[in-house]
Amino acid sequence: MIRLATKKDMEAIYILGVMLHENYRKVNNLDVLMNEKHFKFFVAEEEKKIVGFLSVTELYETVDINDLFVLPEYRRQHFASRLINYMISDVSDSVLLFTLEVSVLNKEAIALYRKFGFDVICKRLLYYSNQDAYLMGLRCNKE
Ligand SMILES: CC(C)(COP(=O)(O)OP(=O)(O)OC[C@H]1O[C@@H](n2cnc3c(N)ncnc32)[C@H](O)[C@@H]1OP(=O)(O)O)[C@@H](O)C(=O)NCCC(=O)NCCS
Repeated sequence: MIRLATKKDMEAIYILGVMLHENYRKVNNLDVLMNEKHFKFFVAEEEKKIVGFLSVTELYETVDINDLFVLPEYRRQHFASRLINYMISDVSDSVLLFTLEVSVLNKEAIALYRKFGFDVICKRLLYYSNQDAYLMGLRCNKE
């Protein structure tokens, strides 16, 4: 099941977040961020266990994907795809553009985003401490 996260999910998100970035807990005060209207957190739940999460910042016409993580043993089962689909259907009607940064070495994530139609906009040199990143974008197809 994919759903919006609540504060009851905070500890589970921290545990996954630290697997993604070791300083996740230090730099993300979820108790505060979850009260902010511009931040949204989504979780993938399987048999009462949080197996993945997605967080975004929604500002006016743009949604930036901040973090996306699925536990290794649950990968290639479309949890990330379902999180992204749920998020896209949840954001406001005024959203025109989705953006994200991804390491140029992260082939799995780049393949995932390309599957959704994201294109590389530019390369951000040394965006991560020792790695370049692609800025990727997806325009919303709204008639
Ligand atoms: C990237 C990540 C979120 C993908 O999660 P996932 O649940 O396994 O992804 P999905 O099952 O929804 O995969 C969707 C598509 O992405 C691509 N993909 C995902 N993993 C892949 C892999 N290991 N190799 C090649 N393509 C891959 C495939 O096109 C796949 O579609 P398919 O299974 O129908 O072929 C997961 O690997 C992860 O948590 N990685 C570590 C954190 C990370 O890199 N986050 C992104 C930071 S920007």
